[in-house]
Amino acid sequence: MTLEELSQKAHALWRSWEEVSANLASPEDLESVRIKFLGRRGMLTQLFSALKELPASDRAEAGKILNVLKERIESALAEKRALIAAQARLAKLARERYDFSLPGKWRPLGKLHPLTQVRLEIEEIFLRLGFDVASGPEIETEYYNFEALNIGADHPARDEWDSFYLGEGTLLRTHTSPVQIRVMRTRRPPVRIICPGRCFRRDNPDATHSPVFHQVELLWVERGLTFAHLKWVIGEFVRAFFGPGYEMRFSADFFPFTEPSAQVHIRKKGTEKWLEIMGAGMVHPRVLEEVGYDPEEVTGFAFGLGIERMAMLRYGIEDIRIFWQNDVRFLQQF
Ligand code: DAH
Repeated sequence: MTLEELSQKAHALWRSWEEVSANLASPEDLESVRIKFLGRRGMLTQLFSALKELPASDRAEAGKILNVLKERIESALAEKRALIAAQARLAKLARERYDFSLPGKWRPLGKLHPLTQVRLEIEEIFLRLGFDVASGPEIETEYYNFEALNIGADHPARDEWDSFYLGEGTLLRTHTSPVQIRVMRTRRPPVRIICPGRCFRRDNPDATHSPVFHQVELLWVERGLTFAHLKWVIGEFVRAFFGPGYEMRFSADFFPFTEPSAQVHIRKKGTEKWLEIMGAGMVHPRVLEEVGYDPEEVTGFAFGLGIERMAMLRYGIEDIRIFWQNDVRFLQQF
């Protein structure tokens, strides 16, 4: 073989590489072509073996040609390999592509009932002010529901709480005030609690009455408490719950378990109408005595508010019965 012939063979080999490599599509193709050209018995390897047939003076030149050829094929192979890998990646992505225009799966989300939301909100306000949340039974005795609260057996106030009696001396509690007694009987002052809970009265359902409703009771007993403290606590509550745009007004009222007793109204500043939000007062000395507290030593105040009423005022709801109808169109709004 002459240098000339070897050089032609090298060109032919490059052309045949170009032809073959144009159609490479897979890593397997690539490997078989690599073996065919660069393998131990490959075409280029054979050309290298042919070097020794050349005259010694031509071998260096011929070797250079073959080395250049080898480098070119190797780098072309590497490029091809990268190209095929990139194409494979693209094909995989195309196969796995998500169709974002498909409608998703709708999972309806449940929510807390508006009354629960309002209760939690009220609890949070008083927790921030340092009150504990207490609870008591819904089935009460006449003693806790009435007597211990200074509502005697023949007291006219018992008419006001027309009750569901369950049997001798027991009834569904008509208010959360009995929890005041239960808490005071088990703790020494200072006592600072609120008690949210369900209450029951023999009322005919109408827009403002429901035989089942909710109250939050508040009680603070400690040395040196005055009506001013009561006003402060209620003021804090009104500001936190209704917002800063309200003013409040206290007027005289009567409850057997408080003295003096008051009714609290609020009004949006700049409007006419006063809205009643709660009954309140200084805990009656007889109630303190009943639980073994000394009214000369400690004083206290209490209030009771209706959760439904708070929710109705907050959201402008005019009929209390809607809270119990479980109409999703109503409930969804909260
Ligand atoms: N228990 C009263 C009711 O159901 C509300 C009430 C008024 C509670 C004055 C109080 C209070 O603690 O001080 O109508």
